Amino acid sequence: MSDFNERNITQAVIDRLVDCKDARFKQVMSSLITHLHDFVRDVRLTEEEWIGAIQFLTQTGKTCTEKRQEFILLSDTLGVSILVITLNHRSDQGSLESTVLGPYYWEGAPERPRGSNLAEGVKGEPAFYSGRVLDVEGRPLRNALLDIWSGDGDGNYDMQMPGDTGMRARGKIRSDDQGRYWFRSIRPSFYPVPIDGPVGGMLRKMGRHPNRPGHIHMIVSAPGYEAVTTHLFVADSPYLDSDAVFGMKESLVAKFARHEPGKAPTGDVMSEPFYTVEYDFRLRRAAKAAAA
Ligand code: BEZ
Ligand code: FE
Repeated sequence: MSDFNERNITQAVIDRLVDCKDARFKQVMSSLITHLHDFVRDVRLTEEEWIGAIQFLTQTGKTCTEKRQEFILLSDTLGVSILVITLNHRSDQGSLESTVLGPYYWEGAPERPRGSNLAEGVKGEPAFYSGRVLDVEGRPLRNALLDIWSGDGDGNYDMQMPGDTGMRARGKIRSDDQGRYWFRSIRPSFYPVPIDGPVGGMLRKMGRHPNRPGHIHMIVSAPGYEAVTTHLFVADSPYLDSDAVFGMKESLVAKFARHEPGKAPTGDVMSEPFYTVEYDFRLRRAAKAAAA
């Protein structure tokens, strides 16, 4: 028997996992303990800092509600979410890259006919999106599904608006026999992640801004192919180089071409300027389908 000191405490804690039956859990916890102890030693954490961290995490938990997940926001702003996504979703042969899901996904958006205006009555500059869903060899994928959501032209999502607005700027669109899709929405604006909770306080203390560059969200899926949670980013948006949640990927930046009032690609006659965006999504075969 020996007293624990600042060196041998780490192995002593790991040794207590001797009866752990779950090998993966044992590996993860042993590594976590090692890194956590190294961190405490590295910064020589004071007791005030340790209790401050406990209070911060407690507040983070208390800020979570049915509609708000402050721990995910913490993970997002510390770059952990995008690190996990990047480790787990390979993108090769030019396949579509993944990025963060974010807190504003709302399952069950209605499927709408191609060409629909998903942002009926939503504030913002009109934008017409089109392109194809393809496999990595460039073959069209018919019946692929785009589950799309966006904030309005000021960057506010329906879920953040007071009262029960119902779903706004959301919808599902399927590709046609040639893999083509098209729909209307708005040109998204940059916006801040929620900063009225502990994560906002952390960002301020770090001297960081809370903004995300303008983007529209989508989950792109097709039978037999890997579904990808992703965004399209507005090419000239502020904050492209400093996304608060590190979700920006260059391959996801799309040019929004501005047009004067007139005929839009859907045949709609527009009385205000509008934008067009073209982007092809390339999906990889799902692992199981590839092995079959
Ligand atoms: C979003 O893009 O909707 C988002 C992502 C991460 C944190 C907050 C918002
Ligand atoms: Fe978003």
